[in-house]
Amino acid sequence: MTALLHVDGVSRRFGGYLALNNASCEIGEGDIHALIGPNGAGKTTLFNVVSGLLRPTVGKVSFKGRDYTGLKPDRVLTMGIARNFQQVRLVRGLSVVENVMIGAHARINRGILGNAAEFFGFSIAEKAAREKARAMLDFVGMAGKSDLQPDELTLVDQRRLEIARALTSEPQLLLLDEPAAGMNPTELLELSALIKRIRKQGLTVLLVEHHMRLVMSIADFITVLSAGSIIAAGTPAVIQRDPAVISAYLGARE
Ligand SMILES: Nc1ncnc2c1ncn2[C@@H]1O[C@H](COP(=O)(O)OP(=O)(O)OP(=O)(O)O)[C@@H](O)[C@H]1O
Ligand SMILES: [Mg+2]
Repeated sequence: MTALLHVDGVSRRFGGYLALNNASCEIGEGDIHALIGPNGAGKTTLFNVVSGLLRPTVGKVSFKGRDYTGLKPDRVLTMGIARNFQQVRLVRGLSVVENVMIGAHARINRGILGNAAEFFGFSIAEKAAREKARAMLDFVGMAGKSDLQPDELTLVDQRRLEIARALTSEPQLLLLDEPAAGMNPTELLELSALIKRIRKQGLTVLLVEHHMRLVMSIADFITVLSAGSIIAAGTPAVIQRDPAVISAYLGARE
């Protein structure tokens, strides 16, 4: 297994509180890797460190063997790591498709699109970005909703929109923070299929999720955080049987 992402001895302190305590893990290329743990375990904090929103107090993060600790979120995105947000972040006043297009900014000024933008003005690049964003909305199961306003969407569709936006930046690693929150059983199946399709396109997925049935059915590998520390790591079969995990997490929930 080749590791795409290395988290190496990462701690993050908020005042006197240690939200992450010497956490280390590897995310294998092409894997669906789940990060689970009770509320407040530090999962979103780890996502914030990996996506550049937070600097670790101690430790480092490396992507494809390169240490990028301290790199700003827009640079991390350009490097190939995209995310959604547990608390959905959409821009009101922009349509659904325009909200997705925001994600293309990591790519729009590069390569052929960037050249076109310089040559013809931004209209061609914008048109291409709009088409790509629509295609991405189709991909996440939101065909026909491009021209709505974000607040006309259900929370489930708002979460799907964020996935479409993250994909538009053409990442290699996609971070999904509780994408299943609020989903009914049918929507959960659709999400599961979507995550598998994303992986099939060659992406690596790091998934934070409380929904255990979803996690156990799609994850290749699971890392378990509890109170800031990694307490277990392994395949779903191994994690389900781990006594420390059962007492810290699974037993408490199901
Ligand atoms: N910016 C911050 N300032 C102070 N404390 C923070 C900050 N961000 C997170 N924390 C604290 O760090 C701990 C870990 O929070 P985090 O959001 O990473 O947990 P989580 O595992 O994502 O939980 P949940 O499952 O509820 O989303 C919590 O106690 C939280 O209150
Ligand atoms: Mg969280």
